[in-house]
Amino acid sequence: MSILSEETIRPWLVGDFGRELAVYRTIGSTNDAAKLLAKNGAPHGAAVVSGHQSAGKGRLGRKFYSPEDTGIYLTVILRPQWGPEQSLSVTSAAAVAVARAIERVTGIFVQIKWVNDLYFGGKKLCGILAESALGQGGKLEYVVVGIGVNVATDSFPPELSEIATSLAAAGGKEINRARLAAEILNEFSTVYNHLESRSFMEEYRSRSCVIGRKATLLGRGEPLEITILDISRDAHLIAETADGERLGISSGEVSLKGDWR
Ligand code: BTN
Repeated sequence: MSILSEETIRPWLVGDFGRELAVYRTIGSTNDAAKLLAKNGAPHGAAVVSGHQSAGKGRLGRKFYSPEDTGIYLTVILRPQWGPEQSLSVTSAAAVAVARAIERVTGIFVQIKWVNDLYFGGKKLCGILAESALGQGGKLEYVVVGIGVNVATDSFPPELSEIATSLAAAGGKEINRARLAAEILNEFSTVYNHLESRSFMEEYRSRSCVIGRKATLLGRGEPLEITILDISRDAHLIAETADGERLGISSGEVSLKGDWR
């Protein structure tokens, strides 16, 4: 497996993100490390990268499987100009950025499952977790956006084996992890500059695997059966319930019905 180090990543960096860069062989969670750096004044765009996490965190309080040397675990610190209502747009921007980076480095076209998971062949190969801290006056003090990519992971624990995959399994050969980590930072820096116009949402929609599908909405109390009609410019799901009620949904998770590969 290609080596993930500051020396191997830095030559590929061309954008504003990752200029301040901390790279670890192993760490608890890059998001936790980034939050500590952010509290101590790290600048916008600073990044933490690791080749292993002993306590990788996922959404909804879950763990993120982060084995040694076969993945990329990366977190970017943002110091936003906007309020918490833009958080959904930031994670959507990150999903588009990672999808572009993967395509650039491996040629593999990945889909986005709302809100910010990346899939290939109906299986997940990347998860994104944003965590934010509010400052004075309800403004965001910082946001950390954590990205975990299964690059060459070839065995998963039993509970993940049917639902997770990696870029290598998707057909990517000899993937240079350092280059992919740098391209993720480069693309995220580019997409982030379009956050206000949300021009990246067209690509987000074209990569979406949820539009037009029936699904169960989870993580917001009682599961709700919905048909997903579209995704709005501010990344809300536009859905319809069985009794014809139209909803704009900004939180939770969807479990898609049927075979959607
Ligand atoms: C999810 O799929 O539920 C989100 C997973 C996010 C995983 C990444 S790996 C880098 C960063 N550090 C963490 O502890 N989590 C995120």
